[in-house]
Amino acid sequence: MDMDLEKKIDLIRIANQARKWAHVPYSDYPVGAAVLTESGKIYDGVNIENAAFPVTICAERVAIFKAVSNGEKDLKAIAVVTKNGGMPCGSCRQVMAEFNLEMQVIVADENEKITAEKTVNDLLPGAFRSDSLV
Ligand code: THU
Repeated sequence: MDMDLEKKIDLIRIANQARKWAHVPYSDYPVGAAVLTESGKIYDGVNIENAAFPVTICAERVAIFKAVSNGEKDLKAIAVVTKNGGMPCGSCRQVMAEFNLEMQVIVADENEKITAEKTVNDLLPGAFRSDSLV
């Protein structure tokens, strides 16, 4: 299932614009994410760092948790924007895998140039999922 280009560009722009709200006093590496749900809604997120470093949460998880906590678990695509097109971390891939292995993951840089386009299944083959819990 592919998305139209306009929707992709929208999602990237929203993720990029969200970067200004990132709380990144330690890394100075703002990340913005935007999740598109099946219903057509978009939830954005940013990374939120903490003086107790491991408490930091990534932008992707903030966006996904905002969608889920608003009753939307049917996640179609996520855009992730950083200065240099950095890829989603392993923990975020695991959270994505909880909801949809076919979710489109669109990675872009600060100029909104797409640097990678994958499914969650591409990024985390063999993910641990609910059916592993037998
Ligand atoms: N970060 C994200 O927001 N998403 C990722 O997938 C990778 C890393 C954040 C966490 C931290 O605030 C900063 O980037 C540097 O690691």
